[in-house]
Amino acid sequence: MGRRDSPAVAHNKGKLGFMRRLTLGLVTAAVGAAGVVAMSQGPAVAQAAADLPTLVAEGQPLYARNCAPCHGAEGNGGAGPPVAGNSFVGSISAILNQIFLGNDARGMPAFTRLTDREVAAISNYVRNSMGNAYPDLVTPEAAAATRPAG
Ligand code: HEC
Repeated sequence: MGRRDSPAVAHNKGKLGFMRRLTLGLVTAAVGAAGVVAMSQGPAVAQAAADLPTLVAEGQPLYARNCAPCHGAEGNGGAGPPVAGNSFVGSISAILNQIFLGNDARGMPAFTRLTDREVAAISNYVRNSMGNAYPDLVTPEAAAATRPAG
């Protein structure tokens, strides 16, 4: 038969090739399907879960626990200055930095133990309650980008 495969061997090679292609195709399809599910659910869920009303609602009890002791339940101040009607909180970067860094010398602790989402929630709450109305969303991503390294 020389170097050429018999028709039977050639036929089997063809079958193997088909099985390999089939397997590869199925794996590719499965990975592709998983990717589509991840893509269709991931950002959509994250977006719905991080809208302004949701984060403001999450921020209320977090403010009550972490901030109200010094800034007042109604934001009128105490050990810390008022946050009600305080244009300082109109700046997203200012409020994020204030929460993350605090001001040790003047008596405000740094809140690095809060998660990015919690800091964003508190910021949105303070900016949209107690007479403040700054509807630009403070995102958890913005908090993450402001969080000090380390
Ligand atoms: C232990 C008391 C204390 C707690 C708790 C506290 N703060 Fe403060 N905060 C202060 C003091 C004191 C200042 C003034 C220091 C300064 O000017 O940086 C201040 C300043 C601020 C300012 C800047 C106001 C301005 O006009 O300069 C903001 C905004 C603020 N705090 C928000 C918060 C938020 C939000 C929380 C909760 C996560 C919080 N603080 C928790 C004491 C506190």
